Amino acid sequence: MSTASETQYAFHGAVEVDDQLDALETMLDPGTAECLVRLGVPAGARCWEVGAGGGSIARHLLALAGPGGRVVATDLDTSRIAAPGAEILQHDVRWDPAPDGGPFDVIHARWVLMHLPERRRVLSKLVDALAPGGWLVIEESMVTPEGLPVLTSSSPADVELFGRFSRAVVRILADAGADPQWGARDLHAAMAESSLEDVHSIHRTDSWTGGGAGSRLHDIHTRQLREPLCARGFTDSDLDRLQNIVADPRFSAMWYPLVSTCGRKTSRA
Ligand SMILES: C[S@@+](CC[C@H](N)C(=O)[O-])C[C@H]1O[C@@H](n2cnc3c(N)ncnc32)[C@H](O)[C@@H]1O
Repeated sequence: MSTASETQYAFHGAVEVDDQLDALETMLDPGTAECLVRLGVPAGARCWEVGAGGGSIARHLLALAGPGGRVVATDLDTSRIAAPGAEILQHDVRWDPAPDGGPFDVIHARWVLMHLPERRRVLSKLVDALAPGGWLVIEESMVTPEGLPVLTSSSPADVELFGRFSRAVVRILADAGADPQWGARDLHAAMAESSLEDVHSIHRTDSWTGGGAGSRLHDIHTRQLREPLCARGFTDSDLDRLQNIVADPRFSAMWYPLVSTCGRKTSRA
């Protein structure tokens, strides 16, 4: 079991966080928007965006909930949440009680619980904060330890280096307390066991060409995770080479599918 002091979000205090959040919003927002539209966020909804990052989904919830709605956007680091109209709160979802403004009709967290060793307890807290009939939407990625498949590249050596890099990133996140495979392995069952009904999962995946948002995220990781990558045997020249590979339009690779798992709190008392 990890304790609070052992828990370290891998990107806390990292370089290039603005660029990281921008790239991941570009990659993931279309899938999240589709999922929220399918759920049908009602006008006037009270929403909680957990680990809001750059705030794009808080803005989306504000638009869906309309002028009578309310969106609380929380994060460990609120400095990047750009969501005018939302109530922004510095909050550690592991230890802090649910924010005022609930119970909530929609609670959404993307690429957050995966990073937290306390994810099961956090999940219970989020379920408890739902209003009867309210939806919990947890989005993670279907990460596999085999790393990401390369679709096109200019050389087999590039495929080998990129494969080694993508597998190392998974292990580095796990060393920091993440469970990169929780979305693929446990998320749906954990929500089904959490007194939620109508639990269902949607998977969505895209390929990214060199220079595109998914490739930019790899480029950013070569700098954010430079130290642990070097500790795992990557040299400066490997990392320089990786930056060139993921900027090259001849390169393309899949990203792990986004899994959006939704469940509704029973409306029975
Ligand atoms: C990978 S980013 C995802 C940002 C945003 N959810 C998105 O998908 O665009 C993870 C976010 O979770 C936040 N976070 C990490 N640990 C947290 C915690 N214990 N409580 C609240 N937020 C946390 C980080 O600060 C960061 O903004």
